[in-house]
Amino acid sequence: MQHVWLIGMMGSGKTTVGVTLADLLDMPFVDTDAEVEASSQTTIPELFAQGESVFREIESTVIGALIQVPASVIATGGGSVLSQDNVELMKRSGSIVHLSVDVPTADKRLDGDGMQTRPLLSSSTTSQLLEQRQALYLEVSDVTIATVDKDPGTIAQEVATWLDM
Ligand code: S3P
Repeated sequence: MQHVWLIGMMGSGKTTVGVTLADLLDMPFVDTDAEVEASSQTTIPELFAQGESVFREIESTVIGALIQVPASVIATGGGSVLSQDNVELMKRSGSIVHLSVDVPTADKRLDGDGMQTRPLLSSSTTSQLLEQRQALYLEVSDVTIATVDKDPGTIAQEVATWLDM
């Protein structure tokens, strides 16, 4: 049994679906954003204030360290796949599941708190980020699961079915 890496845009539901999926599969759940904040004792907005590269370096360290832990469902930050090294680590240690989303749905899910905790959204729109990243999400993933108009339980079940678990 290997890790299940959840990738995709902010607002694709990686964390919410990940918690439900981990419960369904009886596996531990890990969120790389939470690990970044715990290991640096700093919030993500504060890390971005020091420079995006500061955040990305810690994110890569966290992903590297997760290779050693027991098989888990791992929700990653939306930009984690921008690093080829991160992608290689994910590929070597499990399956990469892309949760796809459209702009209106992502915006709806991020409305409120989600906007304030995601510094990139002060300089880019979800539409711009999706346009920049969609091809990469599709290319590096083993499977794409659509999330629009579905609840987390349904999406988690679809991932579990794909994993054959
Ligand atoms: C980011 C997504 C965020 C977080 C950081 C950068 C991105 O995670 O890692 O704000 O580059 O798309 P979520 O995808 O969980 O929102």
